[in-house]
Amino acid sequence: MKKIIVAIDGYSACGKSTTAKLVAAQLNYAYIDTGAMYRAVTLYFIENHIALTNPKEVTQALRDINISFQPNPKTQRSDTYLNGINVENEIRKMYVTQQVSPVSAITEVRKTLVAEQQKMGKRKGVVMDGRDIGTTVFPEAEVKVFMDADLTVRAHRRQKELMEKGETLNLEEIVHNLKERDRIDTTREESPLRKAADAHYLDTTYMTIDEEVEYVLHLATSRIISLNKSNSTIC
Ligand code: DC
Repeated sequence: MKKIIVAIDGYSACGKSTTAKLVAAQLNYAYIDTGAMYRAVTLYFIENHIALTNPKEVTQALRDINISFQPNPKTQRSDTYLNGINVENEIRKMYVTQQVSPVSAITEVRKTLVAEQQKMGKRKGVVMDGRDIGTTVFPEAEVKVFMDADLTVRAHRRQKELMEKGETLNLEEIVHNLKERDRIDTTREESPLRKAADAHYLDTTYMTIDEEVEYVLHLATSRIISLNKSNSTIC
């Protein structure tokens, strides 16, 4: 059975990772959260006081960083590890979130993580979510989805997510952070966030997670079926 790559890009808090995780589980594919990788690098930079404007320091730091994903039997999900330490909770905190866009705009950071992500998806059978998967990491991905949603709805979703983790933030603060991240993510020089020409645009403002999953799964299964059909015809 031939496998495919499902690339899900879009703005923060549009439901990308929740949808991607569920789609991956249904297809029995690996889920790769590329945002977690940028967050782990950001955490390392903060903890080690790396000057973002010093290319030598950044390059050396990137050599010292090892990021991996390991299954967590309690949550049945994968946790992010930074140099062998579980940082899944830490990287979601607001002090990391506030720094992640400037860190992910650094060319060296992007080059390193994009190469890592390409290795992870080399054998296909992955659902990857991020900002540049369909444009830069896997421009040849068989299914590309670009997610968007109303800013206030996104802020409410993020506030709920943070609350569940014990962080209370007011809506204005979250709106400000989302706007700022959108600005940096879409205007950076290196692989800015934009919809790939062949990506399916999905506005999730009025959609439930189940509907989002169904939409992406339909695209993916159709593609898998047609790919395997044409393959068997050739044989
Ligand atoms: O998906 P997220 O909110 O966890 O991502 C955190 C940040 O990482 C986001 O603001 C931009 C950056 N990012 C990126 O530049 N490229 C990716 N492929 C994934 C995330």
